[in-house]
Amino acid sequence: MIRLEKVSKRYPNGHYGLVDVSLTIRRGEFLFLVGPSGAGKSSLIRLLYREESASQGEVFVDQFKLSSLRRSQVARLRRQLGVVFQDVKLLPQRTVYQNVAFAMEAVGASTRDIHKRVPQVLELVGLSRSRDNYPHQLSGGEQQRVGIARALVNNPIYIIADEPTGNLDPETARDIMKLFVEINRRGATVIMATHAKDIVNQMQRRVVAIEQGRIVRDEVRGVYGYES
Ligand SMILES: Nc1ncnc2c1ncn2[C@@H]1O[C@H](COP(=O)(O)OP(=O)(O)OP(=O)(O)O)[C@@H](O)[C@H]1O
Ligand SMILES: [Mg+2]
Repeated sequence: MIRLEKVSKRYPNGHYGLVDVSLTIRRGEFLFLVGPSGAGKSSLIRLLYREESASQGEVFVDQFKLSSLRRSQVARLRRQLGVVFQDVKLLPQRTVYQNVAFAMEAVGASTRDIHKRVPQVLELVGLSRSRDNYPHQLSGGEQQRVGIARALVNNPIYIIADEPTGNLDPETARDIMKLFVEINRRGATVIMATHAKDIVNQMQRRVVAIEQGRIVRDEVRGVYGYES
């Protein structure tokens, strides 16, 4: 379970990313974070994987209390989290396979486990046949699939995505969204910040809307609720 208790985030320049936010996300949920540009969605996401720390309040991710984590625990926390960004940032000199394998090497997985697991996730994201391609040989949607495979490969409990379909055409965006649905169906909790109005409206999942750093709406089967 993820819990934010009266969390505020004030940046060094005095801007507030979040103001007094309380939120509980249970295991297995699929949750959209929506809101206008500058509302605080990315700020919330960065707090979850401890890219940033809360200025006030407390964030809990399962057994981790994020304000008091030692460095070694930050590494353990991040192993529970798969993070997907709009801008995928693959390693250009490595193949699809190597990019995904790299995420396992980084956490000290054995070669044997890597050989077993990487083909499984490439299969899941539909990239088995592109395993030996380099990033520049892939479409934007395929690159995003590699990003998702990389986020999934260590079997995280939570998948956190910040506008993962932001750079994609509507049809590709829909395919990527189906992939997140499948990932959720297999048990991972999915938390996604998005401006994809049509997809949010269609999916009827939990929607948490943020405006000016505050939660203004939290609906079990929600809608996007903004013009886009
Ligand atoms: N590193 C930073 N330093 C200072 N202010 C920041 C920083 N990051 C975000 N902010 C401010 O925090 C507020 C929330 O920004 P955030 O990036 O979380 O919004 P967002 O909802 O993700 O927007 P978008 O939909 O455009 O991605 C904005 O006022 C922004 O200017
Ligand atoms: Mg953002």
